[in-house]
Amino acid sequence: MYKLFSAFRLGKLELKNRFVRSATTSYWSDEQGILTDPILDYYEQLATGDIGLIIKGHSYINEKGKAHTGQSGLTDEIHIPRMKKLVEKVHSHGSKIIAQLNHGGGTSPADRATASVYKTENWEARELTLNEIEEIEDDFVKASVNAIEAGFDGVQIHGAHGYLVSQFLSDIVNKREDKFGGTLEKRTRLLFDIYDKIRSKLGSEAIVGIKINCDDFAPEKGLRISDSIQVAKWLSDKGIDFIEISGGGFQQKPEIRKTRGRAGEESGYNEATWGEHAKNIRDAVPKLPLILVDGIRSRNTMEELIENKIVDLISMSKPFINEPDFVKLLQNGQEKSSCIDCRKCISREFFGKTMLRCFHRFP
Ligand SMILES: Cc1cc2nc3c(=O)[nH]c(=O)nc-3n(C[C@H](O)[C@H](O)[C@H](O)COP(=O)(O)O)c2cc1C
Repeated sequence: MYKLFSAFRLGKLELKNRFVRSATTSYWSDEQGILTDPILDYYEQLATGDIGLIIKGHSYINEKGKAHTGQSGLTDEIHIPRMKKLVEKVHSHGSKIIAQLNHGGGTSPADRATASVYKTENWEARELTLNEIEEIEDDFVKASVNAIEAGFDGVQIHGAHGYLVSQFLSDIVNKREDKFGGTLEKRTRLLFDIYDKIRSKLGSEAIVGIKINCDDFAPEKGLRISDSIQVAKWLSDKGIDFIEISGGGFQQKPEIRKTRGRAGEESGYNEATWGEHAKNIRDAVPKLPLILVDGIRSRNTMEELIENKIVDLISMSKPFINEPDFVKLLQNGQEKSSCIDCRKCISREFFGKTMLRCFHRFP
């Protein structure tokens, strides 16, 4: 029987339990993307809460790909010393930590550029040239080397939520007619290149994973479950170490996100927004370590997902903002997260204006 509090082997990493803190930007690094003291303290607090694996909030891989104020960087040597401190703090409490690498694409205010010319209500992006795409791939590799230099246990490519990799995967944004656009395989080319280059630089021992959308939840077109299943199969064949299943992005419609493909009440894991999508991906890649995020709040749901091996690891973000010691609380008998999903932590009112915290619990 697979259990929530049992250890799990992720590549060469021995995780002490099945809990993952999903990447969550604390939006409080300095102007150069260097971590500040409150961030180091925050991660130490998470690690003392006994989380098996912490995925650090996204770091930009080059200045042009910076997604928001206060985001941390991994572009340069200047970022390494403070990242090293953070990793040491986390490791000293027996948790493992992975760096998430990102390029914001059209969402990056510094240079709105993506697969093709693309307009939203809030921004308009230009098309990246082939040379620029190659530079971006190389910058992902450089950032992965910096992460390992800082002591991280591995890296996660951010391929979800409508940032650059996810924009290339989407047939709404990606209208290219060269090797990076057209078929699903060609739209996945950027991701393959980034993965292959990172893998060949870091070697087979390094933990390299991805966060990917199971569905963009756009009204028409965009990545859908049949596409993400195929991408998962390709990545599994390539030897990726894990996939964290997420969904959505700037094209999503909330009503679609909540309902399309969702498991019924009788499933026992209907609380997990994408539990049914995870089950479908699991069927396609039975041996690949899978992590599921979004909406998971109660012990019953977690047990259902783990004991039936729908996924191997349970990932959460807002519950840990609300209760950094949530794993210990569960271990001591608490049944459910106290997070009320008010979403203040991600609201314009607070995002990037002060260090991340639960603004409901600590107003
Ligand atoms: C404040 C905040 C910051 C986030 N930052 C990131 C991030 O840096 N990278 C990422 O992949 N997802 C990020 N997310 C999304 C979460 O990782 C997670 O996918 C989402 O919150 C759903 O999980 P939950 O229902 O457990 O909160 C963030 C979410 C919040 C609330």
